[in-house]
Amino acid sequence: MKGLIVYDSYFGNTEKIAIHLHESLKDTHEVKLVKVHNVEKEDIKNLEFIVVGSPTRAFKATKAVMDFIRKIPKDGLLGVKSVAFDTRMNTKDVNSKILNALVNVFGYAAEPIGKALVGKGGTVVIPPEGYYVTDSEGPLKDGEIERAEKWIKDVIK
Ligand SMILES: Cc1cc2nc3c(=O)[nH]c(=O)nc-3n(C[C@H](O)[C@H](O)[C@H](O)COP(=O)(O)O)c2cc1C
Repeated sequence: MKGLIVYDSYFGNTEKIAIHLHESLKDTHEVKLVKVHNVEKEDIKNLEFIVVGSPTRAFKATKAVMDFIRKIPKDGLLGVKSVAFDTRMNTKDVNSKILNALVNVFGYAAEPIGKALVGKGGTVVIPPEGYYVTDSEGPLKDGEIERAEKWIKDVIK
């Protein structure tokens, strides 16, 4: 299958997940890994799957990620298997009732990414997933890379 993995990252954690997703798929699929700022129009043509990942920043995906999806033409992802992920903090690690309440209301980046992909015609093949960092700038929690590798292989065969 021909696929594209697009990600944004400030501190390298989302990038690390994206790199490992790419590693997991590249031997069996024609898959390109590209940072969101470097995506070219050609990259989204004739895709069979797309994976989009973003750090969660202020309960949302980055502007660059949402702009990228917004610019995809109407029905540009028709029939394309669409997968969304984010990196995020576990509210249990942040001892703040206010923050926990806000997260309950506003959530994380992966859900809106998934919805936006569907808005362009994409087919969701697995619920959006979040991978946890230990602190606001990372690193990723132990086991998250392995969890991501298994996750993507389960859905992109
Ligand atoms: C300004 C800022 C806002 C953040 N907002 C959230 C948030 O709303 N929810 C959350 O779970 N994590 C939040 N985080 C933690 C980020 O999710 C974390 O920095 C990110 O997963 C790291 O990914 P990256 O290395 O790819 O940038 C925030 C971090 C920063 C620096």
